[in-house]
Amino acid sequence: MYRSLKATASVSTHPQAVAIAMYGGASQSLPKAYRLLDRQWGGALAAAIKRPEFTRDAGSVTCLYPEGGTRLFVLGLGDKKSFREDTLRACLGSLLQNCFTSKVTKLHLELSPGLGHSFKPEPLGRLVGEMLIVSNFSFESCKGTAGGSGSGGGGLNLSIEVEQAQLAQVRRGLTVGRSANYARTLAATPPNIANPAYLVKQCKAMARKVGLKCSIIDAKKAQAMGMGGLVAVGAGGSTPPALICLEHIPPASKKTDSNKAPVLLVGKAITFDTGGYSIKPSANMDAMKYDKCGGMAVIGAMEAVAALKLPIPVVGLIPTAENMVDTKAYRPGDILTCYNGVTVEVTNTDAEGRLVLADALAYGTKKYKPRAAIDLATLTGGVVVALGSFCAGCFCSDSTLRSRLFDAGDAVGERLWHLPLWDEHRQMLKGTHGDIVNSGGRGAHPIQGAAFLSYFIGDEGPTQLSSLPWAHLDIAGVSDLKEAKSPWCKGPTGFGVRLLVKMLEGWK
Ligand code: BES
Ligand code: MN
Ligand code: ZN
Repeated sequence: MYRSLKATASVSTHPQAVAIAMYGGASQSLPKAYRLLDRQWGGALAAAIKRPEFTRDAGSVTCLYPEGGTRLFVLGLGDKKSFREDTLRACLGSLLQNCFTSKVTKLHLELSPGLGHSFKPEPLGRLVGEMLIVSNFSFESCKGTAGGSGSGGGGLNLSIEVEQAQLAQVRRGLTVGRSANYARTLAATPPNIANPAYLVKQCKAMARKVGLKCSIIDAKKAQAMGMGGLVAVGAGGSTPPALICLEHIPPASKKTDSNKAPVLLVGKAITFDTGGYSIKPSANMDAMKYDKCGGMAVIGAMEAVAALKLPIPVVGLIPTAENMVDTKAYRPGDILTCYNGVTVEVTNTDAEGRLVLADALAYGTKKYKPRAAIDLATLTGGVVVALGSFCAGCFCSDSTLRSRLFDAGDAVGERLWHLPLWDEHRQMLKGTHGDIVNSGGRGAHPIQGAAFLSYFIGDEGPTQLSSLPWAHLDIAGVSDLKEAKSPWCKGPTGFGVRLLVKMLEGWK
């Protein structure tokens, strides 16, 4: 269910509802802060916890109606020993739905006493801000006359009240959450609308709005520059491929890092992946509109980086193409020359993501001389087989960059798992008539993807694993959900936006 949400955060009083949090388990005692508050609720909370049916199971939200009007939402945190922040995220998703149903427009959050003070106000505020926004996402713009009276039923101006120490981070969380939802809106937009030309238009408009520099390397230019991968993959598409370049240049000041090398983000944006002549089976092919999610994560992150005016230069590159079957389409057997001169024998036109990323990575690392490069891509079905849908696969041999990514992922609940990439994996890709093949047989699919990309990182890539700190995130398992799971609805998750922003905010 979705209604428009205008959330603001303040520290004012007189709420219509208060939300508190409680662990489950044997303990029947209330934290002191709640005991004091319970006086104004006439002891309703103390009475409730004596009742056997009063649940605080992980993820539950229970509504109490104390005398005097103020409603009380109790977020159930479950057993304290097995608590994870995802429980709180799930609670906040349900809490927002409760606010909609009961038309609460002023909500006071008093979660700290229940969570315990090891949960600091700032990260708690951030989590609250992000989750209230992302849990309200839904994609309605393609609903038509058979859509019913609309699940919407009007919007809600929700103002949230939090303690002063949380406020700044709640607000940042709202901003980052909106960017994650923007990435999800683009991801959900169907492939007959969201083609490469559409993404170019969207990025130009977004960049103008938030103050990013946006330049486009169109298909002609890409051809002239030697981007043989991007051009080949997009050759059969309904609109030509393109490389979208977004740049965040922080205003120069003592505090900023603007004279330093940027962080480079690269995201795969295949607007639809049929597999090309190595065509995919038809079952679930519709989900291949989500093959642009890596690129959408970069677009969302760049929007937030600009909105938050982060003091660090960041470049976002989004190679976009549609992988179709067409007389103009590329074929198995074609040999392509990529931007850095590496030639690729196409053994499988369905291994297209790595071909568009190859040019973007080679171009990005050469042109911008970044201090680090991170790419995100729905690159392989193999990573879904290996890791399922609970984390993304992370390839990164630089331990500093890896810590930055893992710490940020843990902080926002976008989990990563480390996978190996060795020279042996690079050898799997040796070509017969070209330098390398784009798919080298059955073994280690997700690693082959990473190994392929490594040929396009920095100056050394073509001959050996580069020393440039680089990470490849295979997000094929996490970029869309087959079923709703609070705070997430079915569909795109925006995976990567919150992680990247968190990482860039903390970059020292
Ligand atoms: N976009 C797919 C990967 C994918 C599969 C994403 C399932 C999400 C869900 C990618 O372009 C692809 O087709 N990969 C192939 C690579 C193979 C041909 C080497 C794969 O994983 O099977
Ligand atoms: Mn493919
Ligand atoms: Zn693909």
